[in-house]
Amino acid sequence: MKRYQICCIGAGYVGGPTMSMIAYQCPHIDVTVVDISQARIDSWNSPSGDLPIYEPGLRELVLSVRDRNLFFSMELDEAIENADMIFVAVNTPTKMSGLGAGRAADLTRWELSARRIAAVATTPKIVVEKSTVPIRTAEAIASVLTASGRTHFSILSNPEFLAEGLEQALKYLLCVHFCKGTAIQDLQNPDRVLIGTNTEDPCSVEAMNVLVDIYSHWVPRNRILTTNVWSSELSKLVANSCLAQRVSTINAVSEICEATGADIDEVANAVGLDKRIGVKFLKASIGFGGSCFQKDILSLVYLCESLGLDEVAEYFYWIVKLNDHQKERFVFRIIHGLFNTVTGKRITILGFAFKKDTGDTRESSAIEVCRRLLHENAILSIYDPKVQSSQILSDLGHCTRLDPLELNQHVSIYADPYEACNQSHALVVCTEWDLFKELDFERIYCQMEKPAFAFDGRNILPHERMKSLGFVVYGIGKPLDKRLNLV
Ligand SMILES: NC(=O)c1ccc[n+]([C@@H]2O[C@H](COP(=O)([O-])OP(=O)(O)OC[C@H]3O[C@@H](n4cnc5c(N)ncnc54)[C@H](O)[C@@H]3O)[C@@H](O)[C@H]2O)c1
Repeated sequence: MKRYQICCIGAGYVGGPTMSMIAYQCPHIDVTVVDISQARIDSWNSPSGDLPIYEPGLRELVLSVRDRNLFFSMELDEAIENADMIFVAVNTPTKMSGLGAGRAADLTRWELSARRIAAVATTPKIVVEKSTVPIRTAEAIASVLTASGRTHFSILSNPEFLAEGLEQALKYLLCVHFCKGTAIQDLQNPDRVLIGTNTEDPCSVEAMNVLVDIYSHWVPRNRILTTNVWSSELSKLVANSCLAQRVSTINAVSEICEATGADIDEVANAVGLDKRIGVKFLKASIGFGGSCFQKDILSLVYLCESLGLDEVAEYFYWIVKLNDHQKERFVFRIIHGLFNTVTGKRITILGFAFKKDTGDTRESSAIEVCRRLLHENAILSIYDPKVQSSQILSDLGHCTRLDPLELNQHVSIYADPYEACNQSHALVVCTEWDLFKELDFERIYCQMEKPAFAFDGRNILPHERMKSLGFVVYGIGKPLDKRLNLV
């Protein structure tokens, strides 16, 4: 009997891990992930398991199924033609020019994928929208797919929700299968799965049931929600807006704390213990980053503007504005703290990824912090345990427009955090990597210029201990250190 075939177009942060999970949980299904990037496919196929993405547990997961029923390939047409179900997980970044620039999602890659499916497919296919797209994209894609009239397509929306959900699921797998004997209390149920379908079309409902069956192999049935397509597409944008809104809210409060002497962690704890509010996503920081939050909020703003809902658009837009304000405010604190100038001063940037446990730098707050400091003629020493030097230089070259020679004069990247701190005027924490909490601050203090400053953009350092060693410490939303030149 022919085995069920899944193809996924887009071998990125979503396509690679989610398809690995399906392949792992459904050994009776063959999963082929295709991409136009040779480098990405080569990396997924790397014999040493040097994958293009860092996510705790991902390497073990991929290696357990690769070449068994999980394949990475450049042969798009072959994979499309063989597939019963095609996930589309290509990137949908914010448009940078033309109509809707700076707001609307760029659907070029999505449409190209749909056109390719339409051109190649000769047998019925279930096409699953995995990328985050604006509401009513499924409708537009349906018209592209059905235009050739050669075969039947059922279109489903199945947005990928939290990266955190993925991590939890990976932890579960690791716990049960790869780290036998580790505590089972780590076992976590993955978050909900959402599948949107055209409920009036019996073929689409049938397709939805196939996808529900696939997920049922590892997600409890009551966590698999089915809705109409529009609800599903909109839910993804709203979910990210809600999460980002909590971050912007607590960051706005952090500014009030600094002006009044309240302590943001005490406030967040007191507020979050209310069960109706909850403690998650109430951690003050230099702001959210990552490829999704800002892009998805702006896409929602664009939708609202297009619908003439100006007040609603403005409401959501302020989540992004506050996030930008928080990064700007943090850099002002550094400059004012360092006696109003950072020109020629060596500043150590600890962390460049947009969050811990990833090598992803897309929309990382560190980029904007570095850009502003470089604009003030600071000399940067950067350390991140997972981000490649080439990625850091590419991000900074792109945002500063400095050529590689100029960049090399102002930026050094280190593989060791202590070397990065040598002769530095200030430490600046941009990513909450756990290892930063455990650094030998006595050793670091001895290596630094005096007064030695620490600007903790994630509130993870041991502030009191560092102060007792002699550091002048600034924490987001924390009572201001009197030795700082701040008001
Ligand atoms: N990154 C996340 O954590 C996350 C979470 C939820 C949802 N999403 C959404 O999922 C989608 C994918 O995000 P990502 O982070 O995986 O993006 P990504 O940039 O990591 O990966 C996208 C991949 O698609 C490939 N691609 C582009 N056009 C193609 C084409 N025509 N044919 C074949 N391959 C093509 C690219 O080469 C790239 O490897 C986006 O819509 C994003 O908003 C991302």
